Amino acid sequence: MLEIFVINALSDNYIYILRNEHKNITSVIDPGEAEPVINFLNNKRWNLDEVINTHHHHDHVGGNAKLLDIYKSKLIAPIYENDRISNIDILVSDNETINITGIHTKVFHTPGHTLGHVCFYMPKEKCLFSGDTLFYLGCGRVFEGTMDQMWSSLLKLKSLPDDTSVYCGHEYTLSNMKFANYIDSNNALLNKFSLEIKNKREKGLPTVPFNLGVEKKINPFLRADDDNFIESVGFSGNNASKSFGEIRLKKDSF
Ligand SMILES: [Fe+2]
Repeated sequence: MLEIFVINALSDNYIYILRNEHKNITSVIDPGEAEPVINFLNNKRWNLDEVINTHHHHDHVGGNAKLLDIYKSKLIAPIYENDRISNIDILVSDNETINITGIHTKVFHTPGHTLGHVCFYMPKEKCLFSGDTLFYLGCGRVFEGTMDQMWSSLLKLKSLPDDTSVYCGHEYTLSNMKFANYIDSNNALLNKFSLEIKNKREKGLPTVPFNLGVEKKINPFLRADDDNFIESVGFSGNNASKSFGEIRLKKDSF
């Protein structure tokens, strides 16, 4: 059985530690810094077998070098970012199936935030590690790719089953929620989950993981192909990809 531990890092990053007790394998996803991971592992008396990156940004890979040095872990990262992430042992690409923490995992190439970004999906465990592609009520800024690419990437994630638990790279939920409420104020389900989000954040609790099925109904960035929604925000007549771009730009200046 897979255990997932959520570690706070830097100002608003999440690092995930994955533990397979049965196989005695421990992995970390996106260690933006090493210290909180080392402290956690010391406490548990676990070694670190695998370091995994979704993309090359420093707040996701900043702890790589120190962790690889201390634990001699294997580094698993996207083939598309081989020139931007050092010392990769196992290069992964789109639609490949690999083992992470001894668990069957599918890789999705999701360009947009960076050109080589990948997400990791574990079908049996029903969980998705979405990095900076999909956030709770939001999506990553489109830094390197095009709006078309980011929309296609989000569609890949949207096609996963509703009962998927999503673990994203940042705690941006409150600010994403403000924007979602601004453009989708009559969404009863969004209002319901907004209360839950506020309660969690008031207590300092993480809002991850979140449910993908709910997300498909309340995340404005996943609804660029929902004609009624698009009409309600005044973008009617565009194709979904264009609508997505307009929503993204609106959020950028919100
Ligand atoms: Fe990033």
